[in-house]
Amino acid sequence: MLINNIDYRTVWMQDSSVYMINQLLLPFKFEIYQSKDYIETANAIKTMIVRGAPAIGATAAYGLAQAALLFEGYGYNDFKEYVDEAFNLLNLTRPTAIDLKHGLNFVKSRMFVKGSIANSKMKAFEAAAEYADLSAESCKKIGGHGNEIIKNNQRILTHCNAGALACVDFGTALAPIRIAHYNNKNIFVFVDETRPRNQGFLTAWELSQEKISHAIIADNAAGFFMKKKEVDLAIVGADRIALNGDAANKIGTYEKAVLAKENNIPFYVAAPLSTFDANSKTGNDIVIEERSEDEIFYAYGMSENKNLEKINIAPLESHARNPAFDITPAKYIKGIITEIGIIKPTKQEIQKLVKYGNEKRSSF
Ligand code: MRU
Repeated sequence: MLINNIDYRTVWMQDSSVYMINQLLLPFKFEIYQSKDYIETANAIKTMIVRGAPAIGATAAYGLAQAALLFEGYGYNDFKEYVDEAFNLLNLTRPTAIDLKHGLNFVKSRMFVKGSIANSKMKAFEAAAEYADLSAESCKKIGGHGNEIIKNNQRILTHCNAGALACVDFGTALAPIRIAHYNNKNIFVFVDETRPRNQGFLTAWELSQEKISHAIIADNAAGFFMKKKEVDLAIVGADRIALNGDAANKIGTYEKAVLAKENNIPFYVAAPLSTFDANSKTGNDIVIEERSEDEIFYAYGMSENKNLEKINIAPLESHARNPAFDITPAKYIKGIITEIGIIKPTKQEIQKLVKYGNEKRSSF
């Protein structure tokens, strides 16, 4: 992604450090966070320095490689135990995005070279880099396929941030928008602000970097614009897609999908193979993360004095509920834009896709 005209990835690894764009500081400050060990990497995922399903997957993959690289003992069994500990810690950081598990399994299944710690370390690093490259490539392809459904002069609504920041590069929902823009299509993007973490501001920041026309709207304004026929198309990302096509995505997605149906607006989900979960039969099998009340009680922003500040915006004597995701039933989804092409959200199509993915990548 272009940031101040320099090409960046959201996350990468150099020597034994994992580097990531610090998303807690955006859109106010652009800073790179350096994680020096796998515990810091796990913490970065947990605290959302890095967030978004494919980005979490790649970060976890690098985190596992980082653990392997930093192992200092001599026994091969000790090495394996140490890697398992790191795997478990990274695996517990966020529960909904299935990419996390896929990233970890991808590295774990490729790294062990019997008896050789040095070779296993090298393999772990190579596997994590391969996972990140494949992830970036998949998102680029999603952009190409998704571009086919975007017509000139269309106004597209998106929810949360499913841009390059949520992935290794390009984005999922934002990839088709990017490619349409590169193809000189005149497009406009409605960006839901996405309370409580306001990931919409990250989307707006990415769109500004690439000079794509857009407006941020309050989450509850989407229906207003849909009814006034100002929205032609909706594209969102996903954190996990069940076998029957039900899709978990940032809280508020479900209501946008229902509104889109009511207003005859095609509603698409964009996601790579790493976001599909053959073990979740329907959306009911997907674990929904419930986050701290504080995300509802406090807002973050820059004061007039240019200080980053946290302010209280709600009565603290109240309680809050804060589910981070919801499930959009398959019936509201017109199609799922993947790196292989656009598929219908049906069990048959998803089974075919997962089989293809497993064969091609010889399983996650
Ligand atoms: O809680 P987050 O910010 O990690 O949420 C994930 C997301 O970015 C969204 O749900 C997104 O729409 C799908 S990930 C490309």
